[in-house]
Amino acid sequence: MLTKRPRGTNDFLPEDTVKWQYVENMLRELCRQFGYEELRTPIFEETELFLRGVGDTTDIVQKEMYTFEDAGGRSVTLRPENTASAVRAYVENKMFAGAQPTKLFYIGPMFRYERPQAGRFRQFHQFGIECFGASSPAADAEIIVLAWEFYRRLGLRNLELNVNSVGCPECRPVYRKALQDFLRPNLDKLCGTCQERFEKNPLRILDCKNPECQHHLVGAPTTIDALCDDCREHFNAVLRHLDAVGIPYKINEKLVRGLDYYTNTAFEILLSDIGAQSAVCGGGRYNRLVEEIGGKPTPGVGFALGMERVFNALQAQGIELPIKPKIDVFVAALGAEASDVAFRLVTEMRRLGLAAEHDMMGRSLKAQFKYADKFNAAYTLVVGGDELSRGTVQLRDMKGSEQQEIPLDKAAEILAAKFAL
Ligand code: HAM
Repeated sequence: MLTKRPRGTNDFLPEDTVKWQYVENMLRELCRQFGYEELRTPIFEETELFLRGVGDTTDIVQKEMYTFEDAGGRSVTLRPENTASAVRAYVENKMFAGAQPTKLFYIGPMFRYERPQAGRFRQFHQFGIECFGASSPAADAEIIVLAWEFYRRLGLRNLELNVNSVGCPECRPVYRKALQDFLRPNLDKLCGTCQERFEKNPLRILDCKNPECQHHLVGAPTTIDALCDDCREHFNAVLRHLDAVGIPYKINEKLVRGLDYYTNTAFEILLSDIGAQSAVCGGGRYNRLVEEIGGKPTPGVGFALGMERVFNALQAQGIELPIKPKIDVFVAALGAEASDVAFRLVTEMRRLGLAAEHDMMGRSLKAQFKYADKFNAAYTLVVGGDELSRGTVQLRDMKGSEQQEIPLDKAAEILAAKFAL
């Protein structure tokens, strides 16, 4: 082997990609029902976008970006997430000029130079949605309902929705100071990362996994205690909407998320069945980001979910997706003349919408049946022998093992009718 695939990346083989297609189709249909339309942005952007959009104190910007200079000497970065790009596209394409809100979704690869482990990759895939222009708590609740409905349709169990509010530019500085004041006496006992975060981004200390840091957080003021009246009312209204549609949640006052742009609602959906990387979905509101990226002040709210983690979760819970069989009809042929007829027949059936296959490897009839069996084809047509001279073919129902002689020139239509095509 000359080279292997890069660390932290995956090859998705046909047995995987059929599942991806199924789930992607489900997501597209869900978006249609919720009024979200697809946005496709470049997988690389000017580095500046992520410095401003994601925030220069975040782990993503400080440690994880695939940044390089292109042949023209510009600094570009493979997108580590899609929210900043969606905001750029919203502003650049003047999508604000149409009726609001603008409701967008995306599916595609993201790139982060992280330490690979189960459920964490350097190239991974996200499905995400962004809703621009609506400041109503109903918009926050709607995206959560969409995510929840997706997992419900897949049949996943044991999901836990965590919600919090991180406040707004009015109340967050007050909270920030209260948290710093609380932690200051024990600052030297916090881990190195938290000591660094103390000045730049103290809220991130709340979700540090280090037990010593967690110990010094006991009794710390919470973001919710510090909310201003508007933020409190917004948060309560989001919860009311969730209650109204029966979505259970846990208020997690330590949830601050790893990106800088959030205001008000922050949420994550966790699934402990898939190990340490249990966050299957994360998002929240970002009312300052559009302005930050050069647009007019515009509220926004969205989330992204990790596609690889969906498949890990399905596997962990033993959920089989109802994938269509690869082949509906196999045409087995005996002899050269019959092979030519088989070729015509599969073409005719494919034109009618069937998944039809025939032998192109010169197999014996017995080997052709074995091959057809492997694909679980519902029907086999046998071309050859006396039937061919009579202008007929044998139709075998592989489940019932029944056999029937049918006219060759009607065979494609008869099969199509069996699949209601
Ligand atoms: P995030 O929490 O960084 O948020 O990522 C969202 C989801 O992507 C995670 O919950 C996880 O399922 C998946 N994910 C993240 N990193 C990896 C990785 N290295 N390997 C596998 N899966 C991963 C965002 O990206 C925000 N843009 C979400 C958002 C949209 N907020 C508002 N709008």
